[in-house]
Amino acid sequence: MNPTEASFDHGVASGDPLSDQVIIWTKLTADKETVLVTYKVATDPAMKNVFQMGKEFALAENDHTLKVDLKGLKPASTYYYQFECEGAQSVIGRTKTLPSGSVDQVNLAIVSCSNFEWGYFNPLAALAKRDSIDAVLHLGDYIYEYQISGYGDTTIGRLHEPPYEIVSLQDYRTRYAQYRRTAAFQKVHQMHPFITVWDDHEIANDAHVEGAQNHQAEEGAYQDRKAAARKAYFEWMPIRENADKVYRKFQFGELVDLLMLDERLAGRTEPVESIDDPNYQNADRTILGSEQKEWFLTELKNSKAQWKIIGNQVIFSDLRFGEIFPKRPLNLDAWDGYPYEKKSVLDFLKTQQIKNVIFTTGDTHCSWAFETPTSVEDYQLKGAAANVAVEFGTTSISSGNYDEYTTMDTVQFAQGLYHKNNPHLKYVNLHDHGYLLLRIRKEVSVAEWYYVPGLRTPGDEEKLGKRIKVKSGSAELILEKEISKNDGMD
Ligand SMILES: [Fe+2]
Repeated sequence: MNPTEASFDHGVASGDPLSDQVIIWTKLTADKETVLVTYKVATDPAMKNVFQMGKEFALAENDHTLKVDLKGLKPASTYYYQFECEGAQSVIGRTKTLPSGSVDQVNLAIVSCSNFEWGYFNPLAALAKRDSIDAVLHLGDYIYEYQISGYGDTTIGRLHEPPYEIVSLQDYRTRYAQYRRTAAFQKVHQMHPFITVWDDHEIANDAHVEGAQNHQAEEGAYQDRKAAARKAYFEWMPIRENADKVYRKFQFGELVDLLMLDERLAGRTEPVESIDDPNYQNADRTILGSEQKEWFLTELKNSKAQWKIIGNQVIFSDLRFGEIFPKRPLNLDAWDGYPYEKKSVLDFLKTQQIKNVIFTTGDTHCSWAFETPTSVEDYQLKGAAANVAVEFGTTSISSGNYDEYTTMDTVQFAQGLYHKNNPHLKYVNLHDHGYLLLRIRKEVSVAEWYYVPGLRTPGDEEKLGKRIKVKSGSAELILEKEISKNDGMD
């Protein structure tokens, strides 16, 4: 093959770091079935101190994507990697292994909901500029399945490819390829390892095991669509292939156990339409499925880590909409839609006295900080003594939130109503886009929301919007009203 016939047009990525392993990823643009790709790994950004090299085939049957699970690495170490194929070279990627043993601090960046049509992925461009990120958690809605204008704002000319709703394997691949050609996604994947999990839009809106709100019979069998969506996800994400499960644990030494949950395809039963549905409270309705639930509770109970961080997709804490959506008092696609299972997790945290649990959540396109009591009624009676966890929700990278649909006055009014209806809610922002930075130390965890000025032109500026702390042993949030520039953490 002529050297100009193979190229790396979708950058590089790394993910699922362990203390001695990490996945590196790339994708070839090539016109033959099989291409042989060389990779090398070095300890310096100039790729002079190469300590691992190898060759792997990129296959058309995997869309010419390629993953290598590097082994024999040192903990808490930064590595650089590059791919080569028939004269073409990829950019040099940077990645990092997880720490082991005693750890001072872990920094997690948390993102969700990157919709191409809603605007430039500027929060990712800003995040790419940061150093000292141990991992970026993408909590889902990495792509959206809709046709052009199906859900988005096309006025700046960012139009989905293919133009129709994606259903087949080739459709999903084309959509991932489009997202991964953006400068922001390429840069952030080049700079940081990712730990990803799907939410619904990687398959179709409000997906569960047996169907989805946005899947109709004329689009074919749902199980075929799900299989196509899964295959494309595993091809395009730097994720370890593990018996088809995406719920998994990452250990950051003695400081953090990160439990990534799959709240869509592992076991979720069909959502109900209304809290008046006679099945609403049923014990067999589940968001995790029995196998994952048992794994989750066992990991929580057995964890020796100081902090237990949950990579959660949909809001876990109670959230009462009240007058904001009078016809829809709760989000029935979130944990509020599965009350029996939610209560059993809350009861478990309480009776087992599991401390230092932080849910991190995507899905809503808004920022949230909750204290998580056993119930709102318990919180009204006992205050923070009723709390069993806290929850930090990250806003969207780009998907529309309230101000894209209404005025800022209405946004402010709605934020006030959320506080009025939810006394355990300590912070809500319904209008900014950005990401959440969670910095964890033995004695304290600090959540910071960073916001970008806009999405309609490309940019990488950001500003700190809010900082909230939680001390070890407490499940009570400490809000910083005046944000000081330096809080003594890296
Ligand atoms: Fe979303």
